[in-house]
Amino acid sequence: MARWCAGALRWICVSMLAACGLQPTAAPQPGEPARVRMPAPPRTVPTPGRLDDNAGCVRCHPLVAQEWQRSQHRSAYSDPEFARVQARERVDVCQPCHAPEADPSRVADAAAAEHGVACTSCHVPHDGDGRVLAAPHGGAAPHGLRREVAFATAAACAGCHEFDFASQPGQPMQRTISEHRASRFADVSCASCHMPWVGEGDARHRSHDFAASRDPAVLRDAVVVTVARADDSHVRIALAPGAVGHAFPTGDLFRQLLVEAEGFDHDGDPVAYDARVLARHFVSTRGLGSGGGMRLLHDDRVGAHGDAPVIVELDLGEDASALRVRWRVVHQRAEFPLPDGDAVLAGETEVLAGELAPIGGDTVRQR
Ligand code: HEC
Ligand code: HEC
Ligand code: HEC
Ligand code: HEC
Ligand code: HEC
Repeated sequence: MARWCAGALRWICVSMLAACGLQPTAAPQPGEPARVRMPAPPRTVPTPGRLDDNAGCVRCHPLVAQEWQRSQHRSAYSDPEFARVQARERVDVCQPCHAPEADPSRVADAAAAEHGVACTSCHVPHDGDGRVLAAPHGGAAPHGLRREVAFATAAACAGCHEFDFASQPGQPMQRTISEHRASRFADVSCASCHMPWVGEGDARHRSHDFAASRDPAVLRDAVVVTVARADDSHVRIALAPGAVGHAFPTGDLFRQLLVEAEGFDHDGDPVAYDARVLARHFVSTRGLGSGGGMRLLHDDRVGAHGDAPVIVELDLGEDASALRVRWRVVHQRAEFPLPDGDAVLAGETEVLAGELAPIGGDTVRQR
């Protein structure tokens, strides 16, 4: 579709792109200096041979390639979680970011689908000069290198990690870059946290695993949790941002944190339960999904409004002080939100859990 975006047809394309999800990047104004291209979804048919070039990257940089192979960038289009959600969408707007090596005007061919976000997608921008983008400092390479300050900043990620809703320009669907800019880690690059240096000597390189939502250790870094009994019936769970350069959770609009507490009586039987979900809470105005209308009601994610902790008070009833309480904080990947505030889950990862002993109770039988 983007291929048609030239000349007189451009305004039609712009409205089509807007209608089906992508906001086109502003065209440079006359007299504006040409900017260095950073990674972004393609707007035209990718130049031929990019996947052959990618095979070269993989051959000569085997350690980086092994990590990329098992990363979610590589499986961005092929993993079943993505496929299930995409199947529910009315139009295919997802491919340019999830399979950026494919022709954006037609369904991805098998090779581009299998590559997902490839080496070339990040290092050889589609409308760049063909040289490999790299961070500013380092030695020579047997191929063209373009060392750029911007590539060592959030600009390397912004083309895909920040965008608006289909039908609602100005209403963000993912806003990790703005969240980063507003966080106390604004001066720490995304790569500093997400691409740590690993290996020794000649093997030393930046990890290309990009582990996050499935890795409990990474998730634990994001939050400092304090749990106490607030009064006879309430447990207070305070969640303060940890070493995280954006809200927690960030990214996909249906990411959420489940904060729950369950009370057990003397026999070890569960007798009380309360929970809250921290997320961007949307209301659907015209059916769910990116094609429909979505209005943000409120955002109670950790760190979404500065460094103050989010306080969750859970009610376990008037006998709560006599109960042993087990609490959990769980990162959930909601696949589809339901109108009643519930959600169909694609998966979840426990971040933290713990227990509070009963106050002045008799001996409790541990399970
Ligand atoms: C013929 C082998 C070969 C091929 C093909 C190749 N590279 Fe390299 N590349 C090297 C060598 C050797 C260096 C310099 C030593 C090093 O940093 O590993 C290098 C350097 C780099 C650097 C700079 C490292 C630094 O110092 O900051 C980047 C980034 C890079 N390559 C990415 C790529 C990407 C992406 C591709 C595919 C488009 C690619 N390379 C293809 C061999 C290759
Ligand atoms: C060409 C588009 C593109 C670029 C550029 C890009 N990403 Fe991604 N990224 C994606 C997509 C698409 C996914 C989702 C993959 C999936 O389906 O699981 C993703 C997933 C991730 C994840 C895993 C999220 C999770 O759920 O665990 C992390 C972390 C991440 N990206 C960080 C970065 C960082 C840091 C940069 C910049 C250095 C960057 N990305 C650049 C498209 C991109
Ligand atoms: C100070 C370290 C730090 C910085 C800087 C940082 N992140 Fe993260 N990021 C984390 C941690 C910790 C997590 C796990 C908690 C979470 O999911 O939010 C994470 C999670 C993510 C996820 C997974 C989202 C989810 O919740 O499933 C994505 C995508 C991501 N980061 C992208 C980025 C991008 C893009 C940038 C730069 C604009 C960035 N991060 C900057 C630490 C950081
Ligand atoms: C999601 C985007 C992304 C993908 C995919 C990606 N890279 Fe990188 N890569 C980066 C960024 C950003 C840096 C620079 C980070 C910094 O130093 O700030 C980098 C750094 C590097 C470096 C120099 C540092 C080092 O580790 O030696 C090499 C070499 C490299 N990448 C090769 C590759 C190869 C080969 C692939 C595919 C197998 C690949 N990259 C896939 C974003 C990406
Ligand atoms: C402008 C780029 C962009 C577009 C367009 C886009 N996505 Fe994504 N998507 C991302 C990025 C970046 C992430 C990683 C954030 C995270 O993991 O929370 C992601 C993550 C996801 C995830 C979570 C994957 C996982 O395994 O954790 C799903 C599901 C998803 N997208 C579905 C879709 C669907 C369906 C569409 C089309 C309606 C779509 N996306 C369009 C950039 C995009």
